Amino acid sequence: MGLLGAGISEVIATTRENAAPIGIHRDGTALWAVLYRGSHTAANAVRDGWLVANVIHDPVLFVRTAFDDLPADAFVRIPGLDWDRLAAAEGFAACSVEVLRETPAALQIGLTVVHEEVIEPRCVPVNRGLCAVIEATVHATRYRSTRDPRLGRLIDHHAVIVRKCGGPGELEALELLRGYIDAGPD
Ligand SMILES: Cc1cc2nc3c(=O)[nH]c(=O)nc-3n(C[C@H](O)[C@H](O)[C@H](O)COP(=O)(O)O)c2cc1C
Repeated sequence: MGLLGAGISEVIATTRENAAPIGIHRDGTALWAVLYRGSHTAANAVRDGWLVANVIHDPVLFVRTAFDDLPADAFVRIPGLDWDRLAAAEGFAACSVEVLRETPAALQIGLTVVHEEVIEPRCVPVNRGLCAVIEATVHATRYRSTRDPRLGRLIDHHAVIVRKCGGPGELEALELLRGYIDAGPD
């Protein structure tokens, strides 16, 4: 099966010197992602024909990469491919990209794994605080520009779970998220 399992895996995608969380879909052997137009990830993946799915459990990195750029030393080149992965990746799947479908709002890209590695073999128990950070961050990416009160309530709901179940990393990520939300859209 490989690193990217059935359903949707939330990873941090790297393209050339850029990182952002995305969901990678798997159905049988088919792997794909839906990338919204206007993102660096979509533009770079189509331009260069590759994308690396970084497996990460760091809540702070999920929040930072959703809203900000990382410094150059956060990336390392994969030997032989010359593609960028995150230095902090616990594992990664390096994929070639083909555009499957285009709509005015988004692109569906097909992914083919050409190389994958497990860097840190870890056994990670489920932490609801981490899951809640991911959920709150997904909602915040839309809330920042829409200020939709329904999304605001969902973020508040997940923040309660982060405070109840999270460790220091999750609490730091929540604080960071609040800062990005308050700052508003770019
Ligand atoms: C957990 C999570 C999953 C996301 N999944 C996607 C996705 O599948 N496709 C997408 O276009 N954006 C997705 N986003 C939003 C992008 O990460 C966000 O728009 C980001 O700012 C894009 O950054 P970029 O311009 O550097 O590519 C997701 C965000 C989070 C937090």
